[in-house]
Amino acid sequence: MHNEVKQFDTISDKYASFVDGDPIRNYLHYPTVVELLGDIKGKYLLDVGCGDGLFDRKLTKEFGAKVWGYDKASDLIALAKNDESKYPLGITYSVDDPLTFHTGELFDECLSVMVLSYAPDANYLINFFDSTYKVLKEGGRFLSVIFNPSFKAFDCVIANRIFKIKDGKVEVNFLKPKTNEVKFTALLTQFSIEEYTDAARAAGFKKITWEKLYPTKEGVAILGEDFWRLCEQEQPYVVLITEK
Ligand SMILES: C[S@@+](CC[C@H](N)C(=O)[O-])C[C@H]1O[C@@H](n2cnc3c(N)ncnc32)[C@H](O)[C@@H]1O
Repeated sequence: MHNEVKQFDTISDKYASFVDGDPIRNYLHYPTVVELLGDIKGKYLLDVGCGDGLFDRKLTKEFGAKVWGYDKASDLIALAKNDESKYPLGITYSVDDPLTFHTGELFDECLSVMVLSYAPDANYLINFFDSTYKVLKEGGRFLSVIFNPSFKAFDCVIANRIFKIKDGKVEVNFLKPKTNEVKFTALLTQFSIEEYTDAARAAGFKKITWEKLYPTKEGVAILGEDFWRLCEQEQPYVVLITEK
């Protein structure tokens, strides 16, 4: 198992409870993806690297989608399945990576939230695009929230993160909002625009677009404009959209 995945497997409980209340996930990543997806009522979605399934439950409960989520971290999938058995929503979860994930079914849209940036190297990226291309319906999209290839504002507090460069990788310090206490860290890679677009094109995706992320009004009301200012200015994340 790659270290990039092991980091979430070994901290699964801590990670899952952090993400549950994480303003970046709840007021920036997830709402942006939902807006870009449009009307997903009755649509079949694949969530690549779904973690403990927090987003999948939202997509199902609040927006009426049908969801399959997979993740390589078995501990996180165990948490997701546990939730599904207690509060059934009809979500399918599996322990998979893009090389093991196979199904005869086709999805309307695929998505992933902060997963591709944890690929072990640029050569691995093609696996994510290959795998989603194969299971997408014609005209379907793969929407991926990734660490922004153009981001430069390292070593500053941005919302509840500090990004630091460490041995050619990016160390993400996840902070408790308001106190800025470091809850845990993770290592990701700042892949370039070319590395992403080459991998997506090699898999067959022709149309490639990029979208900025802005917090929701609710997120601004709860945490204040100061909390989000640098996040809006510096854009640590971007949504990469590839269309089949
Ligand atoms: C930062 S977490 C994001 C989890 C979830 N998408 C969310 O929004 O909370 C990254 C996730 O990607 C998973 N992951 C990383 N590389 C993967 C791979 N090659 N195949 C499947 N899952 C992977 C990790 O196990 C981890 O759960």
